[in-house]
Amino acid sequence: IGNRTFTMIKPDAVENGHIGAILEKITAAGFKIVAMKYTQLSKRDAETFYAVHNERPFFGELVEFMTRGPIVAAILEKDNAVEDFRALIGATNPADAAEGTIRKLFASNVAENAVHGSDSDENAKIEGDFHFSGREVF
Ligand code: CMP
Repeated sequence: IGNRTFTMIKPDAVENGHIGAILEKITAAGFKIVAMKYTQLSKRDAETFYAVHNERPFFGELVEFMTRGPIVAAILEKDNAVEDFRALIGATNPADAAEGTIRKLFASNVAENAVHGSDSDENAKIEGDFHFSGREVF
């Protein structure tokens, strides 16, 4: 049993047909999917989830983007999950992301960057609990 991180496949990657390829990269890298759902964030969901960014100039754009279509939300388990998943997805801006990373392969730009990955164990727990009840985690 490893520890956990939380991810979302964002609306841009869903629209562009990348759900399957992204899940393949995630499982091939050794992450076990312990919870997963296809869902759409409401405006209030997105404002709550991204509350830490609410003073940023891009906050409105971020909420608009994250609510414009469905997402895949998942909790992933692996040793060193948070750090290893951030390495797998690459830098926030795909222009700065390493070759072979999920954002390098599938993201459009810094705003529409294909996937989310928690930045700490503490946030992974908060974000997973935001999306999933205990009965939905296996
Ligand atoms: P993520 O790091 O998952 O969470 C915060 C999100 O804000 C980030 O992904 C991007 O989707 C978005 N974001 C970060 N920086 C910018 C920016 N400069 N302009 C627009 N959106 C951004």
